[in-house]
Amino acid sequence: MKNIKVGVIGCGIISNIHLDAIKKNKNAKLIVVCDKIIERAKIAANKYQCEYTDQVSDLLSLDLDVIHILTPHYTHYEIAKVVLESGKNCLLEKPMTINTQDALDLIKISDGNKNQKLGIVFQNRLNTTSQEIKNIIDNKTYGALKGIKASVTWLRDKDYYSHDDWRGKWATEGGGVLINQAIHTLDLIQWFGGEIDTISGSYGTYVLNDYIEVEDTATMIINFKNNSRGLLFATNNHATNSPIEIELVFEQGVLTLSDSKLYMKLNNQLKLLCEDNSGTGSKAYWGLGHEMLINNFYDSIINNENKYINAREAAQTIEILEKFYKYANQNLKIKIENTKEWSV
Ligand SMILES: NC(=O)c1ccc[n+]([C@@H]2O[C@H](COP(=O)([O-])OP(=O)(O)OC[C@H]3O[C@@H](n4cnc5c(N)ncnc54)[C@H](O)[C@@H]3O)[C@@H](O)[C@H]2O)c1
Repeated sequence: MKNIKVGVIGCGIISNIHLDAIKKNKNAKLIVVCDKIIERAKIAANKYQCEYTDQVSDLLSLDLDVIHILTPHYTHYEIAKVVLESGKNCLLEKPMTINTQDALDLIKISDGNKNQKLGIVFQNRLNTTSQEIKNIIDNKTYGALKGIKASVTWLRDKDYYSHDDWRGKWATEGGGVLINQAIHTLDLIQWFGGEIDTISGSYGTYVLNDYIEVEDTATMIINFKNNSRGLLFATNNHATNSPIEIELVFEQGVLTLSDSKLYMKLNNQLKLLCEDNSGTGSKAYWGLGHEMLINNFYDSIINNENKYINAREAAQTIEILEKFYKYANQNLKIKIENTKEWSV
């Protein structure tokens, strides 16, 4: 079987999760890591036994099958663009970009080369519970879906935001709790709920005003074309990183995701359907699907399959977020386009 030759750009907090998964994949070989802070690249290279550099351009001329991009939000577009233009497959961390124009541009570039894949990291779609919810919706096991309610209540304080320059600023993070922490749950809501008609809601900075520009709390209402509704509450002002909670109301029962366990309430009886193998990792609240997502992406490259979240699918959250940040807080119903139908 073909060996996937891998490069990784960005050796910060998330990088160990990617590097561990690459190391475990029997079809992959890590060739090089890159960080503009050369010390970080060197530490990762020593730990994972590969070459290192502080220049993205060094990777472009190498014989690599895939490059992972794990850099701050504002750099995603520029780095993904040069990686795709070099003809390599690209696995890009969320959010895909910080505006829709850049997302469109990346779709255009990746659409232009049918042999090339651009995958976006929304690993929570691969959680056992997410897969079970999606099956129940698609099979109409409990009738039609009538509504979704979700909450992301985490803790990001002054220390978190002062650790790295790019966090907490519109220009570099592109937003706050919604684009960084709650984006996975927003993606799940739109994946479960289907095509969106309008959104509305509000956001603000209520606790962290002295340290950040971006929102620390948001409420979003999503009206789907099938007349069901999604409600999302997200805040970085909780006392801890609580597990994500989701409730889905069907014609014939209610599904609840709580503490990584999925329950069905039918005729007043609560039944455990499945649970995520969340382990004990300190970052379990991110979801633990990275390894599976990376394996699926490599399998897709080897077998020319589509077992990954492509740019058109991932762009839906960017379309929602850009419009929400622009028009929310004005009592408006904001019209949403279907990014899968975007012509580029
Ligand atoms: N999928 C998830 O659950 C998840 C979880 C955490 C972070 N993330 C995402 O991963 C990305 C990175 O997050 P992080 O927390 O690791 O950030 P970080 O700040 O800890 O790490 C980013 C690294 O990129 C390096 N870098 C910046 N610009 C560069 C450039 N031009 N060339 C080379 N290196 C450069 C920085 O020096 C830094 O070491 C973000 O997009 C974040 O949203 C995703």
